[in-house]
Amino acid sequence: MGLGLAGFVGSGVVYYYELEKKRLQEQSTKTKITSVGKPLLGGKPWTLVDCTSRAAFSSKDLFTMEQKYHLLYFGFTHCPDICPNELKRIGQVVDELKAKHSITILPTFITVDPARDTVKQMNYYKQDLHPSFRMLTGTDEQIEHVAKSYRVYFSKADEDTDGGYLIDHSIVMYLVNDEGEFIDFFTQSAKVSDIVQRTMAKIKE
Ligand code: NI
Repeated sequence: MGLGLAGFVGSGVVYYYELEKKRLQEQSTKTKITSVGKPLLGGKPWTLVDCTSRAAFSSKDLFTMEQKYHLLYFGFTHCPDICPNELKRIGQVVDELKAKHSITILPTFITVDPARDTVKQMNYYKQDLHPSFRMLTGTDEQIEHVAKSYRVYFSKADEDTDGGYLIDHSIVMYLVNDEGEFIDFFTQSAKVSDIVQRTMAKIKE
């Protein structure tokens, strides 16, 4: 639980999960349809702030790195449950691909809560994540732009009496290549072993 989230225990949390579930179902249907045409998700250039270097970091920087494949995830560090679990799974995927298949993919976490997810907060949160995670934040406009280009939905919920709040957001991992092209996506229901297998298969194509 993050700061000021105590008010969300109980029915609020249940409601939140129901919302997530409903949106996830809608989203997976939508994505299935659009993926037939292989959309160029993330094709638009974007610029954010890398929390390690504290400098500007753009889509060009991400896609001209030595590693060809990246796993992108959008979330927020005050997320009580879903994001921590998804980020942990991403770490497992990265480790399994490396250990079993000698494939390196780089995980990137992009916040949808730039107001609270400052560079300092992101770096603090990174301590609990896989060490290869790249942490990206930015201005409201930068975050809105990058989310839009990956068709990631996010919406801030009402603040509680302590000023805490949740953010309803798409739960999806995007596998992208060094040209920023969308290769595949994985939802909450995909098992780590399946993500590893599908990533392998896509990379071999
Ligand atoms: Ni979350």
